[in-house]
Amino acid sequence: MLRSPSERGRTLLAGLRNRNLTARVRQPVDELWDRYLGVHTFGHYPGSGGPGDREWYLHYIPSSYRDVFAVLDRGGVGPDDIVTDLGCGLGRVVFAASYRGAARVEGVDLIPSLVDSAKANLASSRLKHRDIRFHARNALDHHLGDTTFLYLFHPFGPEILGEVMEKARDDRRSAGIRRPLRIAYVNPVGESVLNEAGWLRPDGDMPPRREHFSSALHYRTAFWESTDV
Ligand SMILES: C[S@@+](CC[C@H](N)C(=O)[O-])C[C@H]1O[C@@H](n2cnc3c(N)ncnc32)[C@H](O)[C@@H]1O
Repeated sequence: MLRSPSERGRTLLAGLRNRNLTARVRQPVDELWDRYLGVHTFGHYPGSGGPGDREWYLHYIPSSYRDVFAVLDRGGVGPDDIVTDLGCGLGRVVFAASYRGAARVEGVDLIPSLVDSAKANLASSRLKHRDIRFHARNALDHHLGDTTFLYLFHPFGPEILGEVMEKARDDRRSAGIRRPLRIAYVNPVGESVLNEAGWLRPDGDMPPRREHFSSALHYRTAFWESTDV
């Protein structure tokens, strides 16, 4: 049955009223992407700790889809890639990377309720038949051996970042992986850790870009490629 524009408007408003109304109205392109993909990735979850703490875990807030796609495209993500988002929250980057055609995408987050919602997103998504996996776990416990593209949006402080990168190198060695690992680090607060890791080569960066009709925050993104193959 055809619905009138005013009925459609009421349905849209009812949907928006449900959650995160302000962000969804002020970031309309992201709202449209969520609707197209059949997911709900707007939200906020508080972080814990702070600069100087080993356990500095950042809050959940999604990047804008425009920025996520720009990072994935700059990183050349495509059908040969296994992408991992460490600190995936509700899964926006995971769905975007799968939409761009990555062979497999994994999302990892410390907060079980975020991962439960990410899994519910997958169940309702138009991408539900793609190879997408969510894990409720600390990034430190996630095997990164076969990941070819690692996405980080400032999820934790420099100490955990250093430990995660050491583990990534060990995972790659023990799995005998010969493919390079590319890394994109949005808001790269701990970039010196990657610059000093000794097995990663800086591969340029992307400045933050203003986005019209969006209240989303934008950050610089830095890129690296492994030299251990
Ligand atoms: C800034 S949000 C990034 C959200 C998403 N990647 C994006 O770009 O839209 C950071 C996320 O990292 C998660 N996080 C923080 N510390 C973590 C850890 N040690 N292991 C896994 N996830 C972690 C937080 O729960 C939060 O959801």
